[in-house]
Amino acid sequence: MANLVITIDGPAASGKSTVARLLAERLGASFLDTGAMYRAVTLAAIRAGVDMSDQEKLLGVMETSDFQFSVKEGKMVVGINGADVSEQLRNPEITANARHIASAPRVREKLVEMQRQFAAGEEKIVTEGRDQGTVAFGDADIKFYLTAEPSERAGRRQAELRAKGVSESLEKIQRAIEERDKSDENRTVGPLKPAGDAIVVDTTDLSIKEVVEKLLSCVKEKCLKKN
Ligand code: C5P
Repeated sequence: MANLVITIDGPAASGKSTVARLLAERLGASFLDTGAMYRAVTLAAIRAGVDMSDQEKLLGVMETSDFQFSVKEGKMVVGINGADVSEQLRNPEITANARHIASAPRVREKLVEMQRQFAAGEEKIVTEGRDQGTVAFGDADIKFYLTAEPSERAGRRQAELRAKGVSESLEKIQRAIEERDKSDENRTVGPLKPAGDAIVVDTTDLSIKEVVEKLLSCVKEKCLKKN
C-alpha cells in the first residue's frame, strides 16, 4: 500500500478530478480517477452489446477485456485491449449508462480490487470517486468530500462543454446532474456519501485554486507534520 493515501469523494461535477490532479501534482503523488474505470467498463459493455442490467454479462465483459489504467503527463489514460479510449469516456452515452455498472455489486468489488492494486504500486496517491473514503480506502491518511450547489455544478459543466464546442441548456445539465446524484446516493453498494471522518468542503464559492490550497493545507497539517 502507498505511504500516503488521500481520498476525494463527491457528487458529479464537484471538481474532484481537476482538484485531485492538481493536488497530486503539488504533492508529487500519482492520482486515480475511478470514474474513468466505471466509464471504461460501460464502454466495453456497450461495445459488447450486453444487457446492462445483467451482472453476469457485465462480469463476462470484464473478464474478456484487458483494461489498462495509467497516468501520463498528469492525465489519466485508459486503454481497452491496447487501444487508448480516454477521449471516448466522456461521451453522454457513457455518462448516462455508467449507473448500471455502478450499481452491480460484484462489478464494484472487482473495480475496488483494481483500485487497491493501482494504489499498491504507488508511493503517494490521490484517488477520487464516490466510495474511495468509505469503501476502497477506509484507512486512508486523509479523506475529503467535495460538494457544491447543483446550480453551480451545472454552470461548471456547461462551461466545460462550451470549451469543447457543445451547447447545452443549464436546466438540462442540472437535471442530469441531479438524476446522477440521486442514483449514486441511493444504490445499496458503495453509495455516494461522506465518510464519517471526511473533511467536507463546500466549493460553491471557491475557485479551483482556492480548493487545492485548502486541501493542501489540511494534508500538510494532518499528514506531513508527523514525518
Ligand atoms: O466521476 P465520473 O462522473 O467520471 O463517474 C462516472 C460514474 O461512475 C458516476 O456517475 C458513478 O455512478 C460511478 N462511480 C462510482 N464510484 C466511483 C466513481 C464513479 O460509482 N468511485
